[in-house]
Amino acid sequence: MIQTLATPKQVPLYVTLADELQALVEQGTLRPGHRVPSVRRMALQRDVSISTVIQAYTLLENRGVLEARPQSGYYVRARLPSDAPEPRMARPMAKASYVGVTDLTAEIMMIAAGTHHVPLGEACPDPSLFPNKKLARLLGAVGRDDPMAMGRYAMNSAYDPLTREIARRYLQAGTPLAHDELVITIGCTEALNLSLRAITKPGDTVALESPAYFGFLQIIQSLNLKVLEVPTDPRTGICLDAMRDALEHHDVKAVLVMPSYQNPLGSCMPDEKKEQLYRLLAEFDVPAVEDDIYGDLHFGERRPKPLKAWDTDGRVLLCSSFGKTLAPSLRVGWCAPGRYLERVRRLKFTNTLGSPVVLQKTVSDFLRNGGYDHHLRSLRRAYQNQLHLFSQAVLRHFPEGTRLSRPQGGFILWIELPPGVDTLRLHRDAWKHRINIAPGALFSVKDRYRNCLRLNCGLPWNEAIESAVRTLGELARAQVA
Ligand SMILES: Cc1ncc(COP(=O)(O)O)c(C=O)c1O
Repeated sequence: MIQTLATPKQVPLYVTLADELQALVEQGTLRPGHRVPSVRRMALQRDVSISTVIQAYTLLENRGVLEARPQSGYYVRARLPSDAPEPRMARPMAKASYVGVTDLTAEIMMIAAGTHHVPLGEACPDPSLFPNKKLARLLGAVGRDDPMAMGRYAMNSAYDPLTREIARRYLQAGTPLAHDELVITIGCTEALNLSLRAITKPGDTVALESPAYFGFLQIIQSLNLKVLEVPTDPRTGICLDAMRDALEHHDVKAVLVMPSYQNPLGSCMPDEKKEQLYRLLAEFDVPAVEDDIYGDLHFGERRPKPLKAWDTDGRVLLCSSFGKTLAPSLRVGWCAPGRYLERVRRLKFTNTLGSPVVLQKTVSDFLRNGGYDHHLRSLRRAYQNQLHLFSQAVLRHFPEGTRLSRPQGGFILWIELPPGVDTLRLHRDAWKHRINIAPGALFSVKDRYRNCLRLNCGLPWNEAIESAVRTLGELARAQVA
């Protein structure tokens, strides 16, 4: 008889099946690289329905126990050695600093633009991972249905159905937001710009995680603000003792944080830590700009709540976009600025008048009818798989003593090479092979990460990628030698 009901203990049958298989993997009966029985065979063997087996295998995939290989089946995933060391935390900064005028970031990111290369330095997923054709069809339909839309100015207007969809998604993630507290922006970049402008003036100090996303440093530089880098744990995010110290001893006017899947560390603050951070902000009466752009890319079952979920007095300005999940080039982003709503609205108006309604409507139609959740599920699986394969290759090819992050979401890996390896030099050497990397120097105003680099794992694994990682490893080894 085919069983689809829950067992007497109310544990769903697929969970029981997944637990049993996981136990076999943990005992070593099923070893890394082993193929598990096909869905059909397992259903027959265990006298359960095919959908039960599919659910069980999907659960094991999400737990990182199995991996699906196209047209081949499910395999036991090789584990990363549990003792592979993780990157170390930096020391606190003695005093805040302006961002220097070096154009290193622009130089490094621009040489890559338009040139054929292996894009390991960008934080850009491969375009093939996005539902491009569906979006193109929706975009065409939006133009056909209302051709006049292109002839009208969109003055500061957020497209209502889009903001409702975004608000609905935050509600599901445990963060109730009213749709009319959202400002639609040109990507997350504009949201960050407007937010920082709303709460600071030139010369103010902004505290942020270290290493920091270089885009933050560039925005801060353009606004003539100072940076105070705060040590950050590669797993659990910004160090709260160091943050308290920063707030006590420096005139911090704003905090800029990525509590979920920080770029470049991939760290994710546990809920309690987010709550403590919020309390600290309230105690020192400091506002925070939160970048939540990777929040939907969690590998665990639950989407991490943004810091905004604890915000009872409107001091958190939440910023994000669909740039990492759907369509970077549509540039649809948003900001939930809390008590700074009117200020951010005015800044949005003076900055760009409004965001293109045609693009907002396209994204909104996709969210409502395009299968966004289904797309996100497969995207998360792809990113998790790719991160795993990249990590293994780094451990295989990079010099002994290399440390690497263990992100539980997103698609970025942070690598600390042995002391003495210079990743700016590695960047130059790698570019001769048409491989781009993001050297550690870009992620700090204090040149603290000379032996580190960030790797983009948003690229489907193939021979060319494996060969590029091998080449990087050889170039790094040559420096060690
Ligand atoms: C942390 C972070 N925030 C913001 C952005 C930019 O987002 P958008 O393309 O939506 O402007 C990026 C892009 O790499 C990013 O990594």
